[in-house]
Amino acid sequence: MPSDARALYLDLAKRCVANVIYRDDGAVPGRENEPFLEERRADGRDWPKTAHTMIGLRRLENIKFCLESVLAAGIPGDVMETGAWRGGAAIFMRAVLAAYGVRDRVVWVADSFEGLPPPDPAAYPADEGVDLSGFAYLRVSLDEVRENFRAYGLLDGQVRFVQGWFRETLPRCGIERLALLRLDGDLYESTWLALENLYPKVSSGGYVIVDDYGAIEACRRAVEDFRKLHAITAAIAAIDWTGIFWQKP
Ligand SMILES: C[S@@+](CC[C@H](N)C(=O)[O-])C[C@H]1O[C@@H](n2cnc3c(N)ncnc32)[C@H](O)[C@@H]1O
Repeated sequence: MPSDARALYLDLAKRCVANVIYRDDGAVPGRENEPFLEERRADGRDWPKTAHTMIGLRRLENIKFCLESVLAAGIPGDVMETGAWRGGAAIFMRAVLAAYGVRDRVVWVADSFEGLPPPDPAAYPADEGVDLSGFAYLRVSLDEVRENFRAYGLLDGQVRFVQGWFRETLPRCGIERLALLRLDGDLYESTWLALENLYPKVSSGGYVIVDDYGAIEACRRAVEDFRKLHAITAAIAAIDWTGIFWQKP
């Protein structure tokens, strides 16, 4: 158990956004009312009914690790998640900045706030058959996400929302530099667009995290195609059964 107040706050924030406190059941379509299982939630394998994130405790811990590393090393730039859903992972990013008294970095939260787009296999063949656009569960409005930030006392000028489809918003979102880029948009298209538009803005020494690399083949292919095209050889490290990250050299 951590002993200082900052570590205790972040540990509690992490447990709150994943809701291992009140232990809500899972709600995966077809497996509704799946009972809460601590190990399943820690692993980010269920779709929680009320928790503010579905990424689990290990991927939350990875956010903390990456942010603490860039803060300690003075790597410049903001922090961003592309694909925020109820906002829990981004809320946790804001909590880390707050815990360290960081005032000069912004958390960018990019999402349609109306779920995933239908796949566009003509432009992104790897997305053929990956259609999550019908899941109402994945549609969370901007008002709801704002309200979730507010509930933690973490909605302020250091949080900026980028609302709309990535193909329209990411090329012109006005971000100058990122120290941490976290991709959680599931599709090849969503992963590719985030890398294409935002990877050049990641500072040397900054981190890229990909949530769905192990879980969704289309996402893994986007990462591999992008890394190949740009001759990126930085070692990929596994976070858990699906999440990976690397540090930009
Ligand atoms: C799996 S959820 C993200 C989970 C979240 N990071 C968490 O902490 O639980 C995927 C999110 O990506 C968004 N998304 C995926 N592709 C998108 C796109 N092309 N444009 C805009 N939003 C997109 C969806 O609306 C959805 O909220």
